[in-house]
Amino acid sequence: MMVPGLDQGLGERAQARHLLGRLVQERLRVSQRPRALTGAGASAESGIPVFRGADGWWRNRRAEELATPEAFSRDPKTVWEWYDYRRDIIAKAKPNLCHEFLARMENIHPRWHTITQNVDGLHQRAGSSRVLELHGSIWQVRCTACDVDYEDERVPIPILPSCRTCGGLVRPGVVWFGESLPQDVLQRAFALAEDSDLFFVVGTSGVVEPAASLARVAKSAGAFVVEINPEPSALTPAADAFLQGKAGEVFERLLGLG
Ligand code: OAD
Repeated sequence: MMVPGLDQGLGERAQARHLLGRLVQERLRVSQRPRALTGAGASAESGIPVFRGADGWWRNRRAEELATPEAFSRDPKTVWEWYDYRRDIIAKAKPNLCHEFLARMENIHPRWHTITQNVDGLHQRAGSSRVLELHGSIWQVRCTACDVDYEDERVPIPILPSCRTCGGLVRPGVVWFGESLPQDVLQRAFALAEDSDLFFVVGTSGVVEPAASLARVAKSAGAFVVEINPEPSALTPAADAFLQGKAGEVFERLLGLG
């Protein structure tokens, strides 16, 4: 049965989505200083669970309860077990269409930069080389006794892992809640946001600072902000275009728009 109003409505929505896609495509074509800020949603189609929402629970705990220095001091074994679980998923995961699109953009745009909150290294595995990791890398560890840091890609990692230099307890070398981001990385990220004419915000809930501020800084500096997310986020009000959907699917559509 045809429902005229409804059918027409759906057609209009599809057309509006197409026009918005064309607009973003055109902005992308002429952009001189394009950037992308990515969050956990960029890796969701690779099978890596995001932090917030139904997927974010692990043994009835949330990321905010596990990714803190206090949680590690109290119970390093549980925190390491959670990281070991995530390292195992990440080691088996493959970059998806979102990572591949962003890597491809680096070849097209000589000044493309990707700023990520993710610690999974999938942007680099897809071929991106201009990547700023705001929260570090899950493959990095740091000694709580002698402070040396190094890469440890063992999966599973012995729990509790000890420092290869002094034998002390090592911790994941990522940035936890309540900790400062590496100053040099942060400064470069803000400089890139300020010097941007097109700023993609991909798969982030936009609630963790200072990463979330990057989109607002870019917007204040005059960038056209494009958000890609299946759901509206805290950053949607700052977006000039909201392309609703999964990142890989939206980027694939953008490529296919002709
Ligand atoms: P969140 O888990 O807070 O948000 C993930 C976002 O991805 C949500 O807005 C989802 O709607 C969206 N999403 C889900 N599937 C998607 C898909 N296929 N394509 C696009 N978007 C999708 O993750 P982040 O915003 O990255 O920090 O979280 C920020 C920080 O909080 C993380 O870096 C981590 C975390 O706790 C630390 O550990 C310090």
